[in-house]
Amino acid sequence: MSPTMNWEPLIVAATAARARAYAPYSHFDVGAALLMEDGSIHAAANVENCIPSLGICAERNAMAAAASAGCRRPQAAVVIADMTPPAAPCGLCRQTLAEFARELPDLPILLVNLQGERQVTTLAELLPRPFSLPG
Ligand code: THU
Repeated sequence: MSPTMNWEPLIVAATAARARAYAPYSHFDVGAALLMEDGSIHAAANVENCIPSLGICAERNAMAAAASAGCRRPQAAVVIADMTPPAAPCGLCRQTLAEFARELPDLPILLVNLQGERQVTTLAELLPRPFSLPG
């Protein structure tokens, strides 16, 4: 990560995405934004379902949006939720990010809450040993 990493555009995008969360069951709105290798930003919110297992987290929706747009290499991620300390991605989302960050295991991830707290972590810190197929 560049020491001059400008997180603001990602925070703005994640915040805007969070405002579009569909979370009528948990009432826990989450927004995520990914900066991709080509400089594009892809953001998404969590989208729940009356069948709980069909709900999808913001991070996975953002990664799916990026991959669907042809962008497969995340360079940085922001997650925003109303939680103290700031919420960290769930296990499924960590593995999903790992799928696309194989060449950047230290993918920087900024966790943000509505109080303005910011915690920088990395994918490797959150998921030290992702699964990958042999070979
Ligand atoms: N959620 C996310 O979108 N991202 C996370 O990192 C944690 C949890 C969503 C899933 C569900 O819609 C709601 O938050 C409560 O778990």
